[in-house]
Order: sequence, then structure tokens, then C-alpha cells
Amino acid sequence: MKAIQYRTYGSSDVIEEVEVSMPSIQSEKDVLIQVKSIGVNPIDMKIRMGFMKSARPVQMPFTPGGEAAGIIVAVGDGVSSFKVGDQVIALTKTNGYAEYVTVKEDFVLPMPEGLSFGEAASIGVNIGTAQSVLFTAGQLEKGQKVLIQGGAGAAGGAMVQLAKAAGAYVIATASGKGLELAKSFGADLVIDYKSQDVASMIRGVDLVADTAGGQAQEKLFEVLKPGGKLLSIVVPPSQQLAEQYKVKAGFVASDISAKTLQNGLELIKFGKFKPVVSKTFKLEEAAKAQDFLTAGGVNGKVILTVD
Ligand SMILES: NC(=O)c1ccc[n+]([C@@H]2O[C@H](COP(=O)([O-])OP(=O)(O)OC[C@H]3O[C@@H](n4cnc5c(N)ncnc54)[C@H](OP(=O)(O)O)[C@@H]3O)[C@@H](O)[C@H]2O)c1
Repeated sequence: MKAIQYRTYGSSDVIEEVEVSMPSIQSEKDVLIQVKSIGVNPIDMKIRMGFMKSARPVQMPFTPGGEAAGIIVAVGDGVSSFKVGDQVIALTKTNGYAEYVTVKEDFVLPMPEGLSFGEAASIGVNIGTAQSVLFTAGQLEKGQKVLIQGGAGAAGGAMVQLAKAAGAYVIATASGKGLELAKSFGADLVIDYKSQDVASMIRGVDLVADTAGGQAQEKLFEVLKPGGKLLSIVVPPSQQLAEQYKVKAGFVASDISAKTLQNGLELIKFGKFKPVVSKTFKLEEAAKAQDFLTAGGVNGKVILTVD
């Protein structure tokens, strides 16, 4: 089968399409999936560049790909929830950039009705991350004020939608076409981070969810009310500033699991969550797809498709 791999860390030039042997059912809980679509995530590039060597060491040659959607073609003897022919979402962690992938049953979910394979491959990391930040770590409640930094991005867009569905007052930062997109996700107030100064415009925020990192993160402390929280999925926020502003601040490593996807999948069922695919590339164009996402201004998820 075809797979996308690299043998050494580096730029997208290290990515190659290779012929490898088909994965197979190795344990009774395994599910073998014919992959139709794959979600491209920024962590795919961070791992490839070698930025995650200590946190996420990988064995070369490495096949990236943390999430996919496809059709089950074989199941282990102990699989009880799925059968051959089922259309599913696979939370693969790695090895998703391939024609076939094996996943443990616990990391497979039925594909929501009405979604394309591309849309289905776009939601696992986004919804799992949004749930982890807003509710597990952030304890967001109805009526609270939340600011999503990067509210038109893949993870940020999911956060806007989940926060809105939970009854929060949602402020999102975005730029360009992302301003309209964040509004369409239900944001009550959208701020153009390129031309406006967020910190001088809002106050009294209960929770800030930072999906952009960088120097802009420091300014976000100013909008919080005392006792509020600043949670980042990009870089650990300053503890010194947290003390100064009398707030809590921390990095959140998301839990991408059936449990954290439950709420988002329920919202999809009732038409209250909109997956957004920004651009689709073929599997063999994986390098191009990663470069497209790295360039920024994406607004939604980048997807690879398998013929
Ligand atoms: N910790 C975890 O478990 C976890 C999980 C998922 C993702 N992440 C990380 O979270 C980050 C975002 O991931 P993603 O998939 O959502 O990427 P993405 O789709 O590229 O979204 C990033 C968003 O940030 C916006 N942005 C960039 N600079 C900004 C600034 N100065 N102020 C406000 N917004 C700004 C971008 O807007 P423009 O396009 O308009 O510039 C874009 O919408 C990545 O670093 C990823 O690795 C971490």
C-alpha cells in the first residue's frame, strides 16, 4: 500500500511517498481501516521538524497522521462495537497518512450521519482539544465570558462552537476571511487581531483559550478578571504574570478520545456544530498540504484524501 513517510527530521522536502506492507490485525481489539481522508494537524509539522523530539520521540521511518476517516475492512475477534463496512473516525495518533491503518477499537468512533469523509477526518483533534481546554481544564460554565485567541483556526473554531453551545459569551480573535468565519461559528464579538488591540477592548473575561501562542499571549492576561484562567495549547503561559494578575495559567495537552468527542458529536447530530474543511489535497501531496498549513491564514482544517 501507499504511505507517506520520512526518514529524517527536516523541512517538507524530507517527505516521501513509499510502498509499504499492509498493516494487519495484530490483537483481538484491532480494527483495520481503509483510509478515505486524513486530518493534517500542526503537530505533524512540529514532529517532522524535530521540535517534539523529547515529548514525542518517533521511530524512523515515520508515518505521520493523528486522525482519519474511512471504512472498516477487518476486525479482531474481540471487537464488539464495529463490523466490516462501517464508516468510522479513527483517532490514530500516528500512521494515518496511509491507505490503510490499524487502530484499537477504543479509538474508533462511528462516523456521524451526514458528514463527508473529509469532514469526519477534521473533527477528532479539534473537538477533543476544545473539550479538554474549555471544560476539562477551563470548567467553563453557562453565562461566563470566554476569549478564543485564533477563533477561526482549526482548534479555535471548534472552541468557539462548543463554548457558544454551552451558553457562554464568546469573543474570538481572527483576521481576514477568518473574521466572518468566527462570526458564523456563533462568536458574539469578533476582534481583528491584526488591526485592533484586544487588550484595550475587553475586560472581565473568565477564561482565555490561546491557540496562537507567541508574544501576543502576554497581552491576554490583561483581559481576565481576578481568579480567571488563561489556558494555552501552544506554549506554557508565564507564571509570573499569572501571579501579577491574580489568575491561573497553564498549558493544556489535549485528550483526544471517545470521551472528549462525545459532546461535540452530539452537537453535530443536532446541527449545532459545523466542521470546516479549508482545503483538500491528495495523499501524495502531503508535503504541499503541510506547507499550506504552515503558511497560515488557513481558516479550517487541511485534509488529505485517498483515491
Ligand atoms: N496542546 C495540544 O494538545 C494541542 C492540540 C491541538 C493543537 N495544538 C496547537 O495549537 C495551535 C493551533 O492549532 P490549529 O490546528 O488550530 O492551527 P490553525 O488552524 O493554523 O489555527 C491557528 C490560528 O491562530 C491564528 N493566529 C495566528 N497568530 C495569531 C495572533 N497573533 N493572534 C490571534 N490569532 C492568531 C490564526 O489566524 P490567521 O490564520 O488569521 O493568522 C489561526 O486561525 C498549533 O500550534 C497546534 O500545534 C495543540
